[in-house]
Amino acid sequence: MASAAASPPPGPPPDPLAQALLAGSPQLGEDSFRRVVEWAPSAMVMIDNAGIMVLVNAQTERMFDYGRQALLGQSVEILVPERFRQQHRTFRGGYFGNPQPRPMGVGRDLAGCRADGSEFPIEIGLNPIATEAGVMVLASIIDITERQRAQQRLESALLEKTVLLNEVHHRVKNNLQVITSLLNLQADYAADPRLKAILTESCGRVKAMALTHQLLYERKDFSRLDLGDYLERLVQAIRSSYRASGDRINLHLALPPRPVLLDLERANPCGLLINELTTNAFKHAFPGERRGEIVISISEGADSLISLSVADDGRGLPADDELAKGSSLGLQLVALFVEQLHGTLSIERNGGTRFAVRFPKIFVAKESP
Ligand SMILES: Nc1ncnc2c1ncn2[C@@H]1O[C@H](COP(=O)(O)OP(=O)(O)OP(=O)(O)O)[C@@H](O)[C@H]1O
Ligand SMILES: [Mg+2]
Repeated sequence: MASAAASPPPGPPPDPLAQALLAGSPQLGEDSFRRVVEWAPSAMVMIDNAGIMVLVNAQTERMFDYGRQALLGQSVEILVPERFRQQHRTFRGGYFGNPQPRPMGVGRDLAGCRADGSEFPIEIGLNPIATEAGVMVLASIIDITERQRAQQRLESALLEKTVLLNEVHHRVKNNLQVITSLLNLQADYAADPRLKAILTESCGRVKAMALTHQLLYERKDFSRLDLGDYLERLVQAIRSSYRASGDRINLHLALPPRPVLLDLERANPCGLLINELTTNAFKHAFPGERRGEIVISISEGADSLISLSVADDGRGLPADDELAKGSSLGLQLVALFVEQLHGTLSIERNGGTRFAVRFPKIFVAKESP
């Protein structure tokens, strides 16, 4: 950029202010400086140490609705609402004592005052400029009326969405509860014990799903759910449907010290999986009057893998070929849920049965080739 001293730009003769400015900013030509300030998208107001406006740009005229001549030579306080003028004077004095480039009034709501006395919200950046005429301050002013409106619109849209989501979860939960009541009723009327059992099992599965929606609704956090919290409630529900086993079967839930948070997409298969494995343990592991314990545990590893396990010290799983012959749904569902969680399943059969599932806390989608 050509310096003003080396090649004076064409146009009107330089005024003393511009020359003073150029002394503090040798790399910027006078003309360039004027153009930068004049066409800046924000209002630019330069004041001297007495608070007198020595330079304003076109945007200042538009923003505050004054002609340029009505501003130049006036105190900057005419742009400040009357009730803040005294405070502004004090602030200005303080600023000149230690001028640093910084935003003005951080954390406070600042307002500008138009020629007709109307007010509007603004944001101000302050820049001291050393000139031969002493330190001046160049204030850059932005009208934030539109930004505040947009923010208010966003906030009310967010509130509306939250209310709606709340309502959706509430309704889904209610509808699922109606389904469980219907299944329960049908189970009560079913004469065939096999059919009764199938209906009761289905009822448990629907309850496990309803519970996720109930927790999301209760906690008012729609993005994630505390897995421990969820399993505690689920286990309570399973325990009450197997009341008949009394204290013959102990059910214990081991939770990690820190909560494990999961989104709904994962919480549902997790809950359904635990539901299948725990009901299986109640149903099959302790035939007759056999006593024992079921332990459900969750842990989160440093590798960001979540481990879930359901273990019992019952009679043990039948041999694989025996299992393969059966046409039951439960273990097929378990395999499906593990797949949904992008996890792995391992089964241990020493002195009972232990199903262990590990899945990533954060699912990273595979990139398509
Ligand atoms: N914890 C366990 N201990 C002993 N045997 C088990 C255990 N879990 C499952 N089984 C055996 O595996 C079989 C298959 O289980 P699966 O859950 O698929 O079917 P189910 O429980 O019989 O019926 P449903 O389809 O209603 O779940 C069971 O019938 C049972 O013999
Ligand atoms: Mg089962």
